[in-house]
Amino acid sequence: MKVKMAYSEKVKQRFMHPTHRGTVKDADSHVTVQSEICGDEIEISFNVKEGKISKCMFESLGCAISVATCDVICELAEGKTINEAEKLTKQDIITGVGDLPTVKIHCGDLSAKGLREAIKQYKAKHM
Ligand code: FES
Repeated sequence: MKVKMAYSEKVKQRFMHPTHRGTVKDADSHVTVQSEICGDEIEISFNVKEGKISKCMFESLGCAISVATCDVICELAEGKTINEAEKLTKQDIITGVGDLPTVKIHCGDLSAKGLREAIKQYKAKHM
């Protein structure tokens, strides 16, 4: 079995210079989720304007991959309706960062889980 270990250039770039790190002020949804695999936590917050996610941000206490994949999922979510954002997949995240080492797939799962939970909270409050 071949195990992928190296980080892609996109992961390194996203980790060093994330564009969506922070917390959305007066967010319409704001959640904290934890990985069952490693115990790391992330926060996802977003606002919705005119039916679309207008601003989406993250905080991460996780690893470099966690930062990179959270950055990607927030970028992908912006401009989408709630129903469109709900359809984003782990594969969308992996494509967004180029590739992930096999042992770090769960970090991308955590980012997807964060967005799913934030959408769930939004729907419970607003839909
Ligand atoms: S090792 Fe925990 S999020 Fe990556």
